[in-house]
Amino acid sequence: MIDPALPYDVTLARRREALSTLVVHAGEAADPHTGALDVPIVLSSAFGFSSAEEAASAFQGESDAYIYGRWRSPTLDALEAKLAALEGAPAACATSSGMAAIAGAVLSLVTSGEHVVAPRAMYAESARLLRERLPRLGVETTFVDSSVEAYERAITPATRVLYAETPQNPTLGLLDLRGLAELAAARGLTLVVDGTFATPFCQSPLALGAHLVVHSMTKALSGHGDVIAGAIVGEQAAVERARELVVKGFGGVLSPFSAWLVLRGLRTFALRQEQACRTAHALARALAAEPRVARVNHPSLAQHPDHALALAQMHAFGSLLSFELVGDEATACARGARLLQAVKIATHAVSLGDARTLVVHPASTTHSTMPSDARRLAGISGGLVRVSVGLEGEGDLLADLRQALDAAFAG
Ligand SMILES: Cc1ncc(COP(=O)(O)O)c(C=O)c1O
Repeated sequence: MIDPALPYDVTLARRREALSTLVVHAGEAADPHTGALDVPIVLSSAFGFSSAEEAASAFQGESDAYIYGRWRSPTLDALEAKLAALEGAPAACATSSGMAAIAGAVLSLVTSGEHVVAPRAMYAESARLLRERLPRLGVETTFVDSSVEAYERAITPATRVLYAETPQNPTLGLLDLRGLAELAAARGLTLVVDGTFATPFCQSPLALGAHLVVHSMTKALSGHGDVIAGAIVGEQAAVERARELVVKGFGGVLSPFSAWLVLRGLRTFALRQEQACRTAHALARALAAEPRVARVNHPSLAQHPDHALALAQMHAFGSLLSFELVGDEATACARGARLLQAVKIATHAVSLGDARTLVVHPASTTHSTMPSDARRLAGISGGLVRVSVGLEGEGDLLADLRQALDAAFAG
C-alpha cells in the first residue's frame, strides 16, 4: 500500500491524484431544470405524486420517486453517491452524526442476547455505547487487546459483530483489517470499521474485506468544523438495513443543508488531506526528536509498533498524532494542561479533521467518561496530548508546539 522506497510526498501526491476527480465530480450533475452546477439544497419535507398509481408504486418500492425527506431526498442522494464512490462501495447512507451512524450500524446487526467484540482503545462515546447503552438492550461487548488473536479468543456462539476503529482514538494504535476480515469471514460475522481517523484518503477498509465502514463526517470529510454528520458505507443490502433502522426508524436523518456543507467540503478533501498528512508526518518526526516528549504516536514513525501494518494496509499515515510528555503521571498531566494553555496557533478544542489544528487532553476531556481502569488498559495516560493537524503552515505549527512545550516545562 505505502511503498517505503518512495518519498512520502510522492505517496501523498499519488493518493491525491487518485481521488481528486472523484471528489469534484462523483454524485454530482448539473440540475436538469435550471442548469445550476451546484447541487441544489432541497429542503422540501414531502414530494408530490402525479397520480394515485404513482404514489402506490413509490410506496411499494417499484419506483425511485421521492416520498418524504426523512426517507430519501435529492441533496442527500448526491452526497451518498459521492461517499460511496470515495469508499469504492455500492451504497452509502448519510446520518445525522457519526454516533448515529455507529449506533445504527451496530444495532442493525445485533439483537438481544447477541455479542460484539471491540478494541479497548477507541472513541469514548463509541465505547460507552457498547459498554453502557447496549447492555440495557441485552447486547454485551467484550473489549480486547488490538490483535486478531485477542478478537478470536473473545468470540462466543452469540457473537455477531467484530467492531474496529483504526487508527484508534487517541492512541493511534492500529488493528489488522485483513486479519479481522478473514476472521469475520471464517466465523460468519460482520466486520464494522470506524474509518473516521483514517478517512478514505488513508485507508479503504471495504477493499480489505470489511463489511461496513462508518464515518463521522463532522471531521475531515466535511473538513471545516461547521457541521455534524455521519455515514454508513458498504454493500447495498447492509446499508439499506441500517438506513431503515437509523434514518427511517430512529429519525437520525441528516438535514439537506448539512449534506450540502459536507458536499462542498468534500470537493477539497483530497487536497486538504494531502497537506494535513504531510504536516502531521513532519510534526511527528520533529516531536520524536524532542527530549521533553516521552513518546510520539504516529504510524509514520519507524518506531511505532504498528508501522509495518500501516505500510501494509494504509494509503497514507493520517493527519492525527498524539504524544506523551515526560514525567510521572501527575507531573505529565500538569505539563499537558500548561501546554494546552500555551498554544497560540493550534486551538485547544475537541473534534478533529478541521482546517484548524486542534489539540486536546483526552484523559480529562474526550475520554474522561471511560472508567479509569479501561482508560489505563487502553493506554490513555495523563500526559497524553492529541493533535489533529490542520492546514496552517508547518513551520508555524512546529514553532507553536515548541513554545508551548517551553511553557509546559517552565512551571
Ligand atoms: C473516531 C470517532 N468516531 C466517531 C465520532 C463521533 O462523531 P460525531 O461527533 O459526528 O457523532 C468521533 C467524534 O469525535 C470520533 O472521534
